[in-house]
Amino acid sequence: MNSIVSKISGTGHYVPSHVVTNEELCKRVDTTDEWIRERTGIKERRIGDPKQDFPSYMATQAAKMALEEAKLSPNEIDFILFSVTIPDFLFPNTASLIQENLGMTHQCPSLDINAACSGYVYGMVVADALIKTGAYKNILLIGSELTSRFNNWEDRSSCILFGDGAGATIISRTEGNPKEVGILKHILGSDPTKKDALILRAGGSRIPITKEILDNKENFVTMDGQSVFKAAVKTLASQCEFVLRESNTTHDQVDWFIPHQANLRIIEAVGDRFKFPKEKVIINVDQYANTSSASIPIAISEAVKDKRIKRGQLLLLATFGAGLTSGALAIRY
Ligand code: ACO
Repeated sequence: MNSIVSKISGTGHYVPSHVVTNEELCKRVDTTDEWIRERTGIKERRIGDPKQDFPSYMATQAAKMALEEAKLSPNEIDFILFSVTIPDFLFPNTASLIQENLGMTHQCPSLDINAACSGYVYGMVVADALIKTGAYKNILLIGSELTSRFNNWEDRSSCILFGDGAGATIISRTEGNPKEVGILKHILGSDPTKKDALILRAGGSRIPITKEILDNKENFVTMDGQSVFKAAVKTLASQCEFVLRESNTTHDQVDWFIPHQANLRIIEAVGDRFKFPKEKVIINVDQYANTSSASIPIAISEAVKDKRIKRGQLLLLATFGAGLTSGALAIRY
């Protein structure tokens, strides 16, 4: 029986023009191109212009591309959901800055969500739920991250991993059989027992910035890479398994596996577990590194533009991030 379901009606992305290769990073920290490629699959990343490429700016560029693809004007958007880890300002929220940038003249709810790298997948589930209330028609969902701002450029184990960029998707209301179109099944999770494995402690209400904090570089990300790595592989695999099982889908029915782009070894470990052929796994971590919650929507937008992703195909998205948050969903494009 038909009911309200969500569909992706537009996709867009923006990455800063400044490319920083592994070789260039070697001039800044004690590392090698070979080490970075072998451990992560990353070859280069984009680093935003600090005077321009704020999360709101990059998000706006990605949103414009998505609106054009969906053939919608900004005033036809009735909700902005914005995923960001480090926003433009602590407040007001960044979603409202994007609303202003897009020149939206109508009253439109604008909400930031922070689930770190998992924010886009969390956002898609929230957008789907909002669409199904019947109150909204077109939701602009964006992930945009200026990760270079929270990198400690003296910590070689983490600064090599991240890159900047934004990806946007418009989630629109349509009608169909919910077992066949839209989000077929999802799972979201969080494991706060591992919150210290990936954290930026200072700068919020609990630990305000002081001279001592700055001297000790506590205003940057700290990460226990191995602990994040192990948790990521385990969680991604079990959540993908759940989504496939609960949507009565087998791995060979998946047209595209689109995982969060944190590390090629994590992606390969999970892809191999499900016997996804390499050609069915969308990868851009080599070009852009880990763009946090922008990584999946950038990957989707690029694959829609170059026509790898086509209407009617089944996409499996899977993510994890600080928290440790996680999620997976199957969506019919
Ligand atoms: N270049 C050269 N050597 C390095 C570098 C570097 N950039 N970084 C660390 N090393 C050294 C270490 O000092 C260590 O040396 P030692 O043995 O003499 O002590 C050695 O390399 C091994 O270090 P490990 O930390 O054990 O290396 P590992 O194989 O675990 O790889 C990595 C590190 C790449 C960080 C890996 O653990 C990883 O990818 N983890 C997941 C991280 C991640 O994805 N984080 C973000 C996810 S959530 C989100 O997206 C927000």
